[in-house]
Amino acid sequence: MNVLVIGNGGREHAILLALKKSPKVKKLYCMKGNAGTAEIAENVEVDYMNLEAVKAFVSNHPEIDYFVVAPDDPLAIGLVDELEAMGKRCFGPRKNAAIIEASKAFSKALMKKYNIPTAESETFDNYDEALAYINKTGAPIVLKADGLALGKGVLICKTLQEAEQGLKEIMLDKAFGSAGNKIVIEECMQGLKYNPGEEVSVLAFTDGKTIVPMITSCDHKRANDNDEGLNTGGMGTFSPCPFWTKEMEEEVMQKIMLPTMHAMNAEGRTFKGCLYFGLMRTNKGVKVVEYNSRFGDPETQVVLPMLKTDLMEIFEAITDERLSEVKIEWEQGACVCVVLASGGYPLSYAKGKEIEIGNLPQSVHLVHAGTAIKDGKLVTSGGRVLGVVAKGSDIENAREIAYSAVKAVKWENMHYRTDIGVKYRQG
Ligand code: AMP
Ligand code: GLY
Repeated sequence: MNVLVIGNGGREHAILLALKKSPKVKKLYCMKGNAGTAEIAENVEVDYMNLEAVKAFVSNHPEIDYFVVAPDDPLAIGLVDELEAMGKRCFGPRKNAAIIEASKAFSKALMKKYNIPTAESETFDNYDEALAYINKTGAPIVLKADGLALGKGVLICKTLQEAEQGLKEIMLDKAFGSAGNKIVIEECMQGLKYNPGEEVSVLAFTDGKTIVPMITSCDHKRANDNDEGLNTGGMGTFSPCPFWTKEMEEEVMQKIMLPTMHAMNAEGRTFKGCLYFGLMRTNKGVKVVEYNSRFGDPETQVVLPMLKTDLMEIFEAITDERLSEVKIEWEQGACVCVVLASGGYPLSYAKGKEIEIGNLPQSVHLVHAGTAIKDGKLVTSGGRVLGVVAKGSDIENAREIAYSAVKAVKWENMHYRTDIGVKYRQG
């Protein structure tokens, strides 16, 4: 099969690396891709948010048999629906199911209606009513812009003053644009050992009939060590999650995963693809923090290297709604991804810096996110540039290997966290 993966970042490179291992796959394409994807796929210079341009490309390339839509934005505008209307086979939810990520107001209402455990919340589109609500509830409190805001539209407010300021930024100053027309205001969930609670990402394959969780992982959203600094798209991940247990898996399957799949079916919004459960272990059981309608970035970078089963076989089974027939298996051990970013990210940063890569240990590979080739040289082209991915016997071992490999990569003003894989060490 010839397969096109849509998206530019580390997640897409990780998906391509997994598909490359499949005996079913002949040729890979990536729209638009980066310098890493170009090594294993043909990069296609088409803006995937321009549906007409994508359709024109697809019409001219009947040799492409299968399409993987990886990022949230094209899913939210219905790229899968468009491709299916052209008779194409795809991985990814349709627009009416992708709303589970694209609107937090939708996902909160869904969880309320179907009794799926999540933080108490209220949704407002009126500033004065929202202000009155936070004055009534007090702090700590969490404010969330309703729409897609590149993972940055969430404010954890420790004081009432911070909450008032945040509300003004989101709803009046439109710091996240139209994503802030509506706001979700949530209770701040407390964990068993930490505050806010301990977080785990569980990606799941689902065809709307069966739902199969992947191996668990933990993200690091803040820019700096000890979870300090600004929120980013993710500075590193590790897998599996140290506090995850068989009992938690069973609780999450019965109270969260199956009810979510059934709820989406009942709403006439069957979800097919990768459904991402952002979960928190709280002092009142495991609760949903957020849903994403796609593979996580950088979770995918540590999850897919642990997959033993052919990813293409899983994708096709989901398209054909026969996921229950596939046995999905995972490797033992652990995987760590340290993201190397441009200094200044997530605010302003330089691009076009030349990257030097020395010798890497055998159990390490690089996943490209913001890289390009300029005048024959590998250069930076984004905030998150590379992921250094290492497998090991356990997280500590994978962590050591990853950080020894980080030393082999250099560019001017490179920034990374030194504590990926440290948190939740005590379970
Ligand atoms: P989200 O974009 O909804 O995943 O939120 C971003 C981050 O904010 C999460 O990963 C959590 O660390 C934190 N967060 C979101 N909602 C809550 C909540 N209700 N209580 C505590 N922390 C939260
Ligand atoms: N790593 C978080 C996300 O993909 O949204």
